Amino acid sequence: MTDKIEGLLKEVDGLQASSAKEAEALRVKYLGKKGIINDLMADFRNVPADQKKAVGMKLNELKNKAQEKINALKEAADTQDHVADDIDLTRTAYPVALGTRHPLTIVKNEIVDIFSRLGFTLAEGPEVEDDWHVYSSMNFADDHPARDMQDTFFVEAHPDIVLRSHTSSVQARVMERQQPPIRVICPGRVYRNEAISARAHCFFHQVEGLYVDRNVSFTDLKQVLLLFAQEMFGKETKIRLRPSYFPFTEPSAEMDISCDICGGKGCSFCKYTGWVEILGCGMVDPAVLDANGIDSRIYTGYAFGMGIERITNLKYKVKDLRMFSENDLRFLEEFTSAN
Ligand code: DAH
Repeated sequence: MTDKIEGLLKEVDGLQASSAKEAEALRVKYLGKKGIINDLMADFRNVPADQKKAVGMKLNELKNKAQEKINALKEAADTQDHVADDIDLTRTAYPVALGTRHPLTIVKNEIVDIFSRLGFTLAEGPEVEDDWHVYSSMNFADDHPARDMQDTFFVEAHPDIVLRSHTSSVQARVMERQQPPIRVICPGRVYRNEAISARAHCFFHQVEGLYVDRNVSFTDLKQVLLLFAQEMFGKETKIRLRPSYFPFTEPSAEMDISCDICGGKGCSFCKYTGWVEILGCGMVDPAVLDANGIDSRIYTGYAFGMGIERITNLKYKVKDLRMFSENDLRFLEEFTSAN
C-alpha cells in the first residue's frame, strides 16, 4: 500500500488542468466520495497494526497534497478565465499615481469641519456677483474706496457686475432667502486687482461665518473663535481681539492668535510681537440686517471672515502665495490628508 501511495504522490504532483472544469474533474477523481483517496482510506482497515502509523501518515500526506494541488489548479484556472474576459488593453502600462488634495482644500475642509461640529451649515454664492451683494447690502457707502477700480475687477460693459472681492456677499445671499436662526459657513474664491507677488495675488480664498438669532452677543463670537483657534492650531493657542473697522460690522475687531512658531516669545514670523493676525469679525451692523430683510429690532448677529491662504501659511509655513496656483507637483505632493 505504501508503494501505491508513493506512486499517487508523484502523480498528484504532476497534475495539470487547463480550465476550472478540468480541475473540478480532478477533485472528483482524487478527493470525491468515491475517489481514489477515499478508497485507500477504506483499505486502511486491512493494514497490519504495526504499519498503521507509517501508512496513516503517508495517506494523510497524500490527501493534503492532493487538496493543495487541486485548489491551486482551480485558482489558476479561475484567474486565467478572468484575465481572458476582463483584461483592459487600453489601460496604461504604468502604475496610475493617486493624486493628493490641494493644501488649500485640506485647510478649507478642516475649517468647515470645525464649524460644522458647532452647528454651522455650508452656504455658497456666485463668484461673479452684482454690486448689491458685494457692497451695497454690506453697508459700503457709494464712495467707499474698496469699490475702487484698483481693488475690484469689473466685468467689462457691466459696471454693476463684479468678481466678488470678499465672501461677505454670501451673507447677503443667505439673509435674503432665510430668516433667523441663521448659522452658516461660506468658503469660496475671491478676486482683487492686486499686483501678483509672494504676498499678494489677484485671487485667493476666504471663509465667511454668519450667525443671526435672538440675543446673539459678542461673548458668543469670542467663545466660538477661541474654540476654532484651539481646534485649528492646538489647545495651547491664545486669542486676542483688537478693535478695527469694517462697514458691515459694529463693533468690529481683528483677531490674532499666539504665534505657534515661537510660542508667543517673539520671532521674525510674528515680527517679534508674539501674535499673528488671522481674521476679521464683529457684530453684524443693524443696517446690514435691515438691508437684507431681517428685523434688527428683534435679531442680532455676529460675522467673521478669514483668508484660507493665511491659515494655510501659518499651518504649513508656505512663504510664497504663488505656490498655491502654480501646480508644481513637487509642492503639491508634500501635502497629504486622511480624506
Ligand atoms: N470681508 C472682510 C475682508 O475681505 C473680512 C471680514 C471681516 C468678514 C469682518 C467678516 C467680518 O464677516 O465680520 O477683508
